[in-house]
Amino acid sequence: MTVRQWAARADGIVGNANVTICGESYRDVGKGAKTVMNKRKLLIVGLTCAVTLVFAVGVRGDAAGEIRRLAELMPFGAQGKGWGPLRSSGSTGTVVADIGAGDGKYAFAAVERVGATGKVYATEIDAKKLAELKDEVAKRKLGNVIVVESKEAETNLPAGCCDAIFLRHVYHHLTKPAEFDASLVRSLKPGGRLAIIDFPPRAGLDPVEGVPSNRGGHGIPQKIVIEELTAAGLKVEKIVGDWPENDYCVLFLKR
Ligand SMILES: C[S@@+](CC[C@H](N)C(=O)[O-])C[C@H]1O[C@@H](n2cnc3c(N)ncnc32)[C@H](O)[C@@H]1O
Repeated sequence: MTVRQWAARADGIVGNANVTICGESYRDVGKGAKTVMNKRKLLIVGLTCAVTLVFAVGVRGDAAGEIRRLAELMPFGAQGKGWGPLRSSGSTGTVVADIGAGDGKYAFAAVERVGATGKVYATEIDAKKLAELKDEVAKRKLGNVIVVESKEAETNLPAGCCDAIFLRHVYHHLTKPAEFDASLVRSLKPGGRLAIIDFPPRAGLDPVEGVPSNRGGHGIPQKIVIEELTAAGLKVEKIVGDWPENDYCVLFLKR
């Protein structure tokens, strides 16, 4: 049976219509064929949307997924897994800092993971974002999320406060990396871990003002992150190359 015959047979009605099937135009194939083709188009559009959504989540990741992965990579929990209550003290949970928290998506995912006994510091240097973060924390009534104003060269976190610190898409924005790195190291507990999630310079992004010229564009080569944080006294523990959004994740340990 030809495509034209199939379309016409769809409900037996042959009227006057122009229909395009698989890129070919057919005339007079009837309203029924049009209806069948509309349904077919809808099905194709629906399937395309579903595939796109699955692909987008897989490639772009999501805050909860990235935080779950970080918690598994930086285990401080009861069974040496995740960021649950610490082994050493039943009542004290893991303390995590999200440096350059932006809209707080990752900090809020982190607080779900550390639970009521844990604590999350969400830091920002931008005054507007800082105010919005504070509003959002108040709105969500989160007693264990502490919003901190960061400085160019200083985390402003208490010394030795954190089990885990992460910077997602922030390191390449640091204008005084050597000073900031020293401050990051001070903010970690001995045995604490730092994760840098970032990306090599990407075409099409505006340059970041005020950063060292060796970044080579908007982003930062993984090699430079490792050199700078090793110079600050941290030890590379793991490099994860398959992070969502074509990012890399480098884990450091404070001995
Ligand atoms: C690209 S955004 C990333 C936001 C968030 N981490 C995320 O992944 O959605 C970079 C953020 O880093 C902040 N930032 C830049 N320098 C900083 C510093 N020295 N201390 C804290 N935050 C900083 C900026 O204000 C901005 O909100």
